[in-house]
Amino acid sequence: MLFPAFATFTFLDTERLRLRPVAPADAPAITPLVSDWEVARQTGRIPHPYPEGGAEKWIAGVRTCQAYGLALALAIERKEDGRLIGCITLETDPSGKPPALGYWLGREWWGRGYATEAAAALADLALSALGVERIEALVFPGNPASVRVLEKAGFRRAGRGTHPAPARGGEKEVLLFELRRPGENPP
Ligand SMILES: CC(C)(COP(=O)(O)OP(=O)(O)OC[C@H]1O[C@@H](n2cnc3c(N)ncnc32)[C@H](O)[C@@H]1OP(=O)(O)O)[C@@H](O)C(=O)NCCC(=O)NCCS
Repeated sequence: MLFPAFATFTFLDTERLRLRPVAPADAPAITPLVSDWEVARQTGRIPHPYPEGGAEKWIAGVRTCQAYGLALALAIERKEDGRLIGCITLETDPSGKPPALGYWLGREWWGRGYATEAAAALADLALSALGVERIEALVFPGNPASVRVLEKAGFRRAGRGTHPAPARGGEKEVLLFELRRPGENPP
C-alpha cells in the first residue's frame, strides 16, 4: 500500500467546505455537474458526452483505489447547505509516482474561491500528515483559472508534457505543476 493514510482518511474541514470520500449515493449529484462540457473539456478524466452509469462506475473504482492507498477522491461539500459542489482527487498508481491533484466544480459555483480553498487544504494535509512528499498537477494551457488555483495553493511550474483529454479526444499538451513539502521546494 503506497499511502496507508489514504485508506483511513475520513474528512477534512476548511472554513466553508467539508471534503469527504465520495460515496455511491453521490452519483445523482455528480452526474449533471460533470455532464457540462465546460467542466469536462478541461479535465484529463471526464468523457463527453458523459455515459450513463459513469458516476457510479467512477465512484466504485476510486473507492477501491482508496482502500488500497492509491487514491483519495473527495466530494467538496458546502458546509452552509451540505450541497455537493464538486470533487477533488489525489491519485497515484502502484509504480510509486507522486500523487496527481485534480479537481472540478459545478459551473454555478465557480469564482468564489472554493477550488483554491479545497486544493490548498488537501495539499497541505497530504504533505504534512498523509505521507506524500510531492504532489503533481497537470493543466491544459487554455485553463487560466486552474493555473491560478494552483499558484494560489503554492504550486510551481515544473515543465510541460502531454495527457489524454477524454472529452476532446486524443492527447493534448499540458502544463506540469508540483508542490513539495515546505523547505523542500527548489529555488
Ligand atoms: C478551475 C476551477 C476548478 C476553478 O474553480 P474556482 O472555485 O472558480 O476557482 P477559485 O475561485 O478558487 O480561483 C479561480 C482564480 O482564477 C481566476 N480566473 C478565473 N478565470 C480566469 C481567466 N479566464 N483568466 C485568468 N484568471 C482567471 C480567478 O480570478 C481566481 O483568481 P483570483 O482569486 O486571483 O482572482 C473551475 O473553473 C472548474 O471546475 N473548471 C472546470 C474543470 C477544471 O478546469 N478543472 C481543473 C483541471 S486542471
